[in-house]
Amino acid sequence: MNKDEVRKPALNTIEVVGTKIDTRHYIGGQRVASVEAFTNTSPIDGSFLGDICRGTQKEADLAVAAAKAAFPAWAALGPKGRGELLLRLAELVEENIETLAQLETMDNGSLLRSHRRGVMPRVAMNIRFFAEWAINELQHPDFETRGHTNKISWDPSGVAVLITPWNAPLMLATWKIGPALAAGDTVILKPAEWTPLSASFFADLTKQAGIPDGVFNVVQGFGKEVGAALVAHPDIARISFTGSVPTAKVIARSAADNLTPVSFELGGKSPCVVLEDADLDLAVELAVEQYDNAGQVCLSGTRILVHENIADAFALKFKEKALQIVQGDPRDEATQIGPQIHQVHFDRVKGFVDRAKESGANIIMGGEPNSDLGGLYFRPTLVMNPDPTSEIVTSEVFGPVLCLQTFKTDEEAIAMANSTEFGLAAILVSGNKERAERVAKELVAGTIWVNCFFVRDLRAPFGGSKKSGIGREGGNWSFDFYADVKNTVVSPNGWKE
Ligand code: NAI
Ligand code: MG
Repeated sequence: MNKDEVRKPALNTIEVVGTKIDTRHYIGGQRVASVEAFTNTSPIDGSFLGDICRGTQKEADLAVAAAKAAFPAWAALGPKGRGELLLRLAELVEENIETLAQLETMDNGSLLRSHRRGVMPRVAMNIRFFAEWAINELQHPDFETRGHTNKISWDPSGVAVLITPWNAPLMLATWKIGPALAAGDTVILKPAEWTPLSASFFADLTKQAGIPDGVFNVVQGFGKEVGAALVAHPDIARISFTGSVPTAKVIARSAADNLTPVSFELGGKSPCVVLEDADLDLAVELAVEQYDNAGQVCLSGTRILVHENIADAFALKFKEKALQIVQGDPRDEATQIGPQIHQVHFDRVKGFVDRAKESGANIIMGGEPNSDLGGLYFRPTLVMNPDPTSEIVTSEVFGPVLCLQTFKTDEEAIAMANSTEFGLAAILVSGNKERAERVAKELVAGTIWVNCFFVRDLRAPFGGSKKSGIGREGGNWSFDFYADVKNTVVSPNGWKE
């Protein structure tokens, strides 16, 4: 897709896997068309899915005005009033799991079976969890200061702009939508331009659930156009963004003008540290999982760090297992990894691998496209002992590309693990609890998974250290961001009754 190509929206609705999808924005409860459109394709086979309305400053202004107008009444509903509607929304998501799964797979090429069984049920849970948290858990005990009572509350803050990526579109969007709406904010979602479909369908579900007009809005289009207009808007209260570090810097500069609070969940180059005493089969299993979603996962442990005494045995087993990965059409039940999202991204991933090859890196598996399957499939790739300063080790590739490096001591492993600018997650595999605890303590990352991967509880904080992000989401941490946290100090004096 040429981002500058001018297209006109041809149709107000398109049909994708038997479901009618509105191609227009959803603003103030109405469908709003734009003068221009952008093309949406499927990464499965490159097929054309439709022309989608391409927002500009004008649509950004409309959406902010609609969300601002809807805010007072939504805020006044309180957690219980909002909760009823949000629980209805969660039910509607559950009733539409199959449709949402089919749509998302068509649009972003992730596995249909995982959308059906894992992702879409979690989308419903994201909404239900935060609605119920706001009702039942969001409280702080009062405390006294020289007879004065401190009462802590989480008040709605205004319009939240949510900017989301394409690797897990509705899943990542609802991590934000759930707490933002439950907190009493009104929301404008700007989905990624490569994957707009599930957001549009979700907007229809919010209408069906009876969420008042203007409380939830979707504006589609390119980041540099409508995304930039939204985050620069003076009337918004919060910006929550998941995506790349360079884009986060642009958004932060823009937010600075209005001092708009930001929450950033950014990239990673997470380590998967395998200590000498690790259960080798478990270590291999966890390492191979890092190819999931064709490597398009922010918290993927793409740097496999293995103790030198077990590295040969590890590499042998790893290769044996990874070579069995079934790559193919994400709609097939047997498929384990599918295509990259888009030609632009595919070229980026391939570029990393090509440059590694040119500089003499030892690629012992994959290293090239799986062209028999289609244009965007890249083989699971393993780079052995790359130069630790090379870009394949330090930059986020966001494809099925892992590096294997060795270390001699725990201290060396810790130093290597912490050596990048990122700090989103770390995986640690060890057979000894005390040793694991000691090493985990030294790892700099928002989440450390010990002898496991991707265990995500919404009560837990999630986010990145260093350049992997700003802030934490989950439980109260989400509300600390989306709400205005307030302390009301009540004196024991001055009362007439
Ligand atoms: P990106 O960070 O540019 O895009 C993410 C979202 O930000 C999209 O909705 C986009 O439209 C929007 N956006 C872009 N520029 C904007 C601006 N100036 N103002 C407001 N919104 C803006 O990511 P992109 O280009 O799709 O992917 C590039 C790389 O980023 C990937 O290869 C990967 O390394 C990393 N990435 C990390 C993700 C994560 O989950 N942490 C998700 C997606 C990408
Ligand atoms: Mg698409």
